[in-house]
Amino acid sequence: MLDTVEPTENLLEVNNIEVIYNHVILVLKGVSLSVPKGGITALLGGNGAGKTTTLKAISNLLHSERGEVTKGSITYRGKPIADSNPAALVKQGVIQVMEGRHCFEHLTIEENLMTGA
Ligand SMILES: Nc1ncnc2c1ncn2[C@@H]1O[C@H](COP(=O)(O)OP(=O)(O)OP(=O)(O)O)[C@@H](O)[C@H]1O
Ligand SMILES: [Mg+2]
Repeated sequence: MLDTVEPTENLLEVNNIEVIYNHVILVLKGVSLSVPKGGITALLGGNGAGKTTTLKAISNLLHSERGEVTKGSITYRGKPIADSNPAALVKQGVIQVMEGRHCFEHLTIEENLMTGA
């Protein structure tokens, strides 16, 4: 029997976001997810579904690709992060291992994340 899981505080909340590239290419519509404290959230989808775009929206990395969050909100530890720069977000603990740059395969997941930090 599964233990009853107590509701926990959400560290990260993505609320109904929309992302548009180049002012015209609608890539994400109505995407919501949450990452509870101490929990793991998996984002699954086919190629081109928008997984990387979702992560770039969270890390505020879309501007360099002419992308923009045009609807919805993203909060980290209860605060909106739309105006936080990517470096500041890393310092606060929002760390990505970017797929294009690959992982260090001889390191553990935790060690890879520490390296990113
Ligand atoms: N910089 C960009 N400009 C315009 N369109 C883009 C840009 N980056 C991604 N897209 C488009 O947005 C859609 C979602 O791409 P994204 O890379 O987020 O998907 P993904 O789920 O990460 O795919 P994969 O599994 O291949 O990594 C795709 O149709 C892609 O062509
Ligand atoms: Mg991707």
